Amino acid sequence: MPHPAQTCRWHAYPTTGELSQAAAQQILRSARQAIARHGYFSIVLAGGNSPRQVYELLRTSDADWLRWQVYFGDERCLPPQDPERNSRMAAEAWLDHVAIPPSQIHPIPSELGPEQATAAYTKTLETAGEFDMVLLGLGEDGHTASLFPGQAWGIEQGAPPVMAVFDSPKPPPQRVSLSAARLGQAHEVVFLVTGVGKRQAISEWRSGKAIPAGAIAPPAGVDVYLEKLLLDRPG
Ligand code: 6PG
Repeated sequence: MPHPAQTCRWHAYPTTGELSQAAAQQILRSARQAIARHGYFSIVLAGGNSPRQVYELLRTSDADWLRWQVYFGDERCLPPQDPERNSRMAAEAWLDHVAIPPSQIHPIPSELGPEQATAAYTKTLETAGEFDMVLLGLGEDGHTASLFPGQAWGIEQGAPPVMAVFDSPKPPPQRVSLSAARLGQAHEVVFLVTGVGKRQAISEWRSGKAIPAGAIAPPAGVDVYLEKLLLDRPG
């Protein structure tokens, strides 16, 4: 499968705190611009731990929350209140503390299991259109969302928007993920990359090796916010 051409802009910061501050400012700026442009701001949230500080900064920020539409890039198949759910982390760090109407927050119903949740979220996304912003993380093996090396990434144009995952190497094994093609249907894509264990994945990404993160190819390119230490050559 040919690898889509991806334009990357690398934004390196000395600390996670500075990275998170800069990323939060880009999100808020993009929200203002999107709301001015078409009356709302649709954002897809990243899972894992890297976005937590960004979400906590958004929690105490001033924004036109009533115009935000929140989606999720992937979810682990766990009960809704499980502390390992991506939706639970975002709620605790941010969404439970701002005035985004609950009807405008669209968690992936992964408690239904991979197949049913995929069908349900495919329907949810029918009215989403192009996302204004997609946030993504990066795994040590180069994965993003729940798109893993050696598995289907949904790169091709006709790829389904949402995919069921049954054998994730990162627990839990069952997940739901937006496809690479659907994640790339965005005005902006921002990666948040923290943790020294990502150094090899960053090196492979920058050298052009085909990794899932490199398959996210929105027309305007992607912004990668990373810790400066990740640019050092892997040991
Ligand atoms: C998940 C995420 C996953 C995550 C990366 C990075 O459900 O775990 O969707 O893609 O973003 O694994 O995770 P950290 O930010 O915790 O390193």
